[in-house]
Amino acid sequence: MSRILIVDDEQSMRQMVAIALRQEGYEVVVAEDGEVASRELQASKVDVVVSDIKMPGFDGIELLRFARENSPGTEVILMTAYTSTESAIEALRLGAYDYISKPFEIDDLKVTVERALERGELRSQNKLLRRQLSDRHKVDELIGRSPGMLRVFDLIQRLADSEITVLITGESGTGKELVAKAIHNEGGRSAEPFIVINCAAMPSQLLESELFGHVRGSFTGADRDKQGLFVAAAGGTLVLDEICELPIEMQPKLLRVLEDHKVRPVGATEEIHIDVRVLAATNRDLQREAAEGRFREDLFYRLNVIQIDLPSLRERSEDILLLAEHFLENIIAAEGESAITGFSNEVKELLLQYPWPGNVRELENAVRRAVTLEGGTTIQPENLPESVRAGGTRAGETLITGLRTGEFDLQGQMLADLDAATAGTGTDPGVIPDEGLDLEEHLAEIRSGYMLKALAEAGGVQKKAAAKLGMSFRSFRYYLDKLGLRDDEAS
Ligand SMILES: Nc1ncnc2c1ncn2[C@@H]1O[C@H](COP(=O)(O)OP(=O)(O)OP(=O)(O)O)[C@@H](O)[C@H]1O
Ligand SMILES: [Mg+2]
Repeated sequence: MSRILIVDDEQSMRQMVAIALRQEGYEVVVAEDGEVASRELQASKVDVVVSDIKMPGFDGIELLRFARENSPGTEVILMTAYTSTESAIEALRLGAYDYISKPFEIDDLKVTVERALERGELRSQNKLLRRQLSDRHKVDELIGRSPGMLRVFDLIQRLADSEITVLITGESGTGKELVAKAIHNEGGRSAEPFIVINCAAMPSQLLESELFGHVRGSFTGADRDKQGLFVAAAGGTLVLDEICELPIEMQPKLLRVLEDHKVRPVGATEEIHIDVRVLAATNRDLQREAAEGRFREDLFYRLNVIQIDLPSLRERSEDILLLAEHFLENIIAAEGESAITGFSNEVKELLLQYPWPGNVRELENAVRRAVTLEGGTTIQPENLPESVRAGGTRAGETLITGLRTGEFDLQGQMLADLDAATAGTGTDPGVIPDEGLDLEEHLAEIRSGYMLKALAEAGGVQKKAAAKLGMSFRSFRYYLDKLGLRDDEAS
């Protein structure tokens, strides 16, 4: 029999939940605060904890932390006041199974507990763990090993089994749709429909009937009943792509659907109950759109319970070659025979240097093109698009972003300073300022400037850059370290 622990400082709440869950046939224990609950967790096996977040003293978040450390087989569901989405999000980050907003329908809680138990079972069979270990660089069809993408993978796995609305953001071509697909495929709805609708693709009136359906005769041309996508996606996931483009008059209607889980087809009198998980995607800054009045704020908050923000490809250069090899393999596999075995080193360097404004999609297209054009066994630079071949001129920038995001401006400035300091002067030291100068510091600056330039020209290959400057690899790495730019892998 599954054992549930209910934790709330309010006695009436404990009782209400306990009665409801006992009716479902669970064994139920209760505790009035986090401390009593943590003793219970240590003393006996608990499958699911349902705990209030806000309690005097040892609160729900602390209890969650305690459970994650001391009782890894226990799933935690937190109850929170309607307004405190922030602590709810914190809870999910810390590994809560889900949260439920007070006041809630007791049936919603029952379903959440049931799903948590299912996941607990899965976990105990070690499936999740094994999957995470063996495929750290892959979730569903998503590839990546940069810290940014590993964070995204982690979020996907935590969110997949919940019902939470997720807003997926990121530049065009960063993989938003693939993330939506992964959330669907990794969760309990994977056997049910996965439907994507592009909100920008049709006029307001059509969109409403597309989403909600219509009854025959409700407008000219509606010659029979039409089932909307919310109904078609029953049991599964509906992705509202380019949500920013959702016409303003449709927004309150969508908000109601999300809140009540009911749709009313155009021209119908009855509402239909729906069971659909909604994900939304956009490459625009939705918060700003809301602040500037182009998007309803209430809908924004409803959609943005959790946000997955995909980093642009230039912010995760660790992924570039991994993705390029992945696309190469896929393309070759799809074509059957191919003599191509990989990329030349020069090509790899160019791929690393280019800033990829079109992100992963642009990279995929570049690889596809190169495979088509390549006559030999390794892909050569002349088969890359012109823009990528020319990308070397912006190398410094991209490389540095790749090495350490956030330090871009500082380092870019250093390169510019160096250019100014050495322009056309040969070994002429230039003017010594009246107030004097710190020669050691000045030389150090010049050294780092040269190192960055050499690195850029060597496509990030440190050994090559060191050789260009007549430095030993060791001392090159030493100074790179001092600049805070050394990445973890030797190259
Ligand atoms: N991490 C990844 N691993 C493997 N393939 C990826 C990854 N990210 C993106 N892709 C591929 O890149 C292409 C673009 O991805 P996707 O359509 O998901 O981007 P998007 O963010 O939705 O773009 P847009 O805003 O233009 O709609 C797809 O072919 C997808 O398969
Ligand atoms: Mg897309």
